Amino acid sequence: MDTLMQGAARDLARSNRAVALTGAGISVESGIPPFRGKGGVWEKFDPMAYAHIDAFLQDPERVWREFLVVLKATLDIAAPNAGHHGLARLEALGILTTIITQNIDGLHQAAGNSDVIEFHGTFARYRCMACGARISSRRIDTRRMPPRCDCGGIFRPECVFFGEMIPPQRLWRSEQVAASCDVMLVVGTSAVVQPAALMPLIAKQSGATVIEINPERTPLTDSVSDYFLQGGAGETMTELLQQVQRHIAETI
Ligand code: OAD
Repeated sequence: MDTLMQGAARDLARSNRAVALTGAGISVESGIPPFRGKGGVWEKFDPMAYAHIDAFLQDPERVWREFLVVLKATLDIAAPNAGHHGLARLEALGILTTIITQNIDGLHQAAGNSDVIEFHGTFARYRCMACGARISSRRIDTRRMPPRCDCGGIFRPECVFFGEMIPPQRLWRSEQVAASCDVMLVVGTSAVVQPAALMPLIAKQSGATVIEINPERTPLTDSVSDYFLQGGAGETMTELLQQVQRHIAETI
């Protein structure tokens, strides 16, 4: 009888339109802490005081100085890990088409994936709230708080703060790819933040197989996931990939 890993690898190996939904957990092994749970970002920073758009607009200097520079410094030195590289390899094998990521760290693109929907935006670019000018993370000057544009306006990251809407085009495309995939890999997300957490449900309702990778159980584990591969993203993706490649070699 197949183990869960073998079954998941077999279904992936047969797919040419798999999609991944990723969350903070996939970047933990790159040194970026998750949001929830022990050691999570929200343990130190109250999200309503640091990650809500109203808090940012009310006091951008405080949010920049106490929170955004800390997060940016962590992101600036992070590199993709085996979990990201595994997903890039699945794309190279013609299995994975698209990643919907809740992460703002750009590590899927750095690993080589070509179609990444940044559901909650990115910290790779910043936008002037006055004139709309955009600059890359490398060019932002954080010696002065808050960082300002040449026009005097304040820069904000191009992420989605709490209290802001997911840009409709991004939401619409995510729903489309979720509804048309045959396998959805759900990696490193607590699956509690909406509407991102709906994507595995949309995939499942449309007939897809859902493979979940996480060291902890989530609200999806018993109700939506067909395969729950318990473990860290790096190690689990590496083993899954090895088995996918074995299946492919056997069927050639
Ligand atoms: P969370 O911090 O809520 O969840 C991280 C998940 O990663 C948990 O389920 C952990 O069990 C799992 N995890 C921890 N270590 C892991 C590892 N090595 N490999 C794989 N998984 C691991 O992060 P998200 O689900 O991404 O939104 O959170 C969703 C959204 O909530 C974020 O995008 C952010 C946050 O508030 C905004 O800021 C708008």
